[in-house]
Amino acid sequence: MEKDDPLPAATAFTVGIAYNLKKGIAAATEDAEAEYDSIETIEAFESVFAKAGLTSVRLEQDAHFMTKVMDARPDFVFNIAEGIGGRSREGQVPAMLDILGIPYSGSDCTTLCVALDKALTKRILRSYRVPTPAYLELPPQPITSQLRHRLRFPVIAKPSCEGSSKGISDLAIADNDHELHQLLERNFHLYGQTMLVEEYIAGREFTVGLLGNGEELRVFEPMEICYLDQEHRENSIYSFNVKKNYQQYVRYECPAKLDKKANSTLKKYAATAFKALHCRDFARSDFRLAADGIFHFIEINPLPGLAPGYSDYPMLAAANGLDYEHLVLAVLNAALKRHGLPTARLPETPT
Ligand SMILES: Nc1ncnc2c1ncn2[C@@H]1O[C@H](COP(=O)(O)OP(=O)(O)O)[C@@H](O)[C@H]1O
Ligand SMILES: [Mg+2]
Repeated sequence: MEKDDPLPAATAFTVGIAYNLKKGIAAATEDAEAEYDSIETIEAFESVFAKAGLTSVRLEQDAHFMTKVMDARPDFVFNIAEGIGGRSREGQVPAMLDILGIPYSGSDCTTLCVALDKALTKRILRSYRVPTPAYLELPPQPITSQLRHRLRFPVIAKPSCEGSSKGISDLAIADNDHELHQLLERNFHLYGQTMLVEEYIAGREFTVGLLGNGEELRVFEPMEICYLDQEHRENSIYSFNVKKNYQQYVRYECPAKLDKKANSTLKKYAATAFKALHCRDFARSDFRLAADGIFHFIEINPLPGLAPGYSDYPMLAAANGLDYEHLVLAVLNAALKRHGLPTARLPETPT
């Protein structure tokens, strides 16, 4: 088979799907399982892979993951596993697959671990001159004296190593030291981890999707998260509550209304973040536009959600002309191509 030839239909090529599922286990916080996937998302991948003539096998990540992989012997793994416990959790599946020598989609362990640490990522991006809000990192210890900092209020406090808006509640913003102190005490208690305190950028919000690698990296047209309730600041952030009830709180505009220069700056920053962190195959990056016209990098997700009809990445891909099935296959193909493996394709739909 030629290197870039599509895989023939009904090939024996087996794709493992690595994931973590929401279990509905009661926890101290409502958002405890926010980053995990529901079975519908896994079923959606299975249906895409079957259409492309690929065999798939489920590999739910748990303590027996390596044994499961060794038993199933997939040729390739499509990875969306968020991992279990600690700030290196997203790197667990890639690290285990590296040990087993099985190729997989998406970024490697190092990239996933660094990107999950928002403060560390900001430090790297600053060295690439990508603007990002001024910040402070605070370890989870009782605050015994006045906090010393030069941040301008309001500030937003978020767990440094979370995603899916975990820890970003309606109460995340503080207007003075007293409020910040209270907010941190509460978050240390609930999340027990380092908090990132950032200057709050009150402006418009954008998210940018990226797909592919190297010369073929495609930066999608940015999507604006337009908040419907501008009166209430707590409803103008992409909090856990707002994401969950997005129909009530936001409207998505893609492509975002931006002039040519602003659009190209935003896309350039997103591509810089992707390359600086050595991301692979796909990612999504969030920005806020400050009153002075400067885009501020908020974070990059090298493992963006792929829940059909819910996650931002498939939504913005659709607005950029790539429906769900083609998007999932494009992510897989970017990864296959990177490994010099033949790519897969969907059957042509009759017109
Ligand atoms: N510095 C900031 N200024 C303004 N809004 C922010 C800032 N940081 C986070 N937010 C708001 O909180 C949301 C979630 O923060 P983010 O860092 O992207 O966390 P997550 O990984 O959970 O998506 C953002 O989409 C944005 O609405
Ligand atoms: Mg985000």
